[in-house]
Amino acid sequence: MKIVKKVAVALLIAFIAMQFYRPEKNQAQGDHTAQFLTETNPAAEIKIILQQTCYNCHSNHTEYPWYNNVAPVSYWLSNHIKDGKKHLNFSDWETYDIKKKDHKLEEIAEEVKEEEMPLKEYTWTHEEAKLTAEQRNAIVAWVQQTRALYQLNQQPK
Ligand code: HEC
Repeated sequence: MKIVKKVAVALLIAFIAMQFYRPEKNQAQGDHTAQFLTETNPAAEIKIILQQTCYNCHSNHTEYPWYNNVAPVSYWLSNHIKDGKKHLNFSDWETYDIKKKDHKLEEIAEEVKEEEMPLKEYTWTHEEAKLTAEQRNAIVAWVQQTRALYQLNQQPK
């Protein structure tokens, strides 16, 4: 029994120590996705879906849940956000060239259609991010329209 107690105390100390390290927050202010929205011009319903279900991991601003104040959950969320932004960041849209924009849109449609995104772990705690079939279809249709714009721009002159 003694060893169990020692392990429990060690774990408790580790847990408390962890609380002192806080990963840097992802908190850009203002219209951080203005360029993306102006260029792709999503209808209001699409814009809301993207903002509510994707921006927390794919933009420079995350609305953190209260449990982000608890390590190691905070480390875990921080890594997800970093990883998500590396693959796709709506706040960095102006830094992508036309080909990349077109490709990212293609990936968005794929991920949404195959129900890979938003991540399952996210929808467990974010009821509003559970997309209906209509919402998924609406995203795919918007992607098709928008890709046409970029593909036209890619034609050789
Ligand atoms: C909880 C965080 C989270 C949310 C919310 C989220 N994603 Fe992601 N997304 C990630 C992570 C992490 C990756 C990279 C690893 C992977 O592909 O699983 C990723 C990857 C992607 C990729 C790139 C796939 C590739 O092949 O490079 C696309 C596109 C994408 N997400 C679209 C979306 C869209 C669209 C939404 C909203 C409908 C969304 N994601 C919501 C975390 C998230």
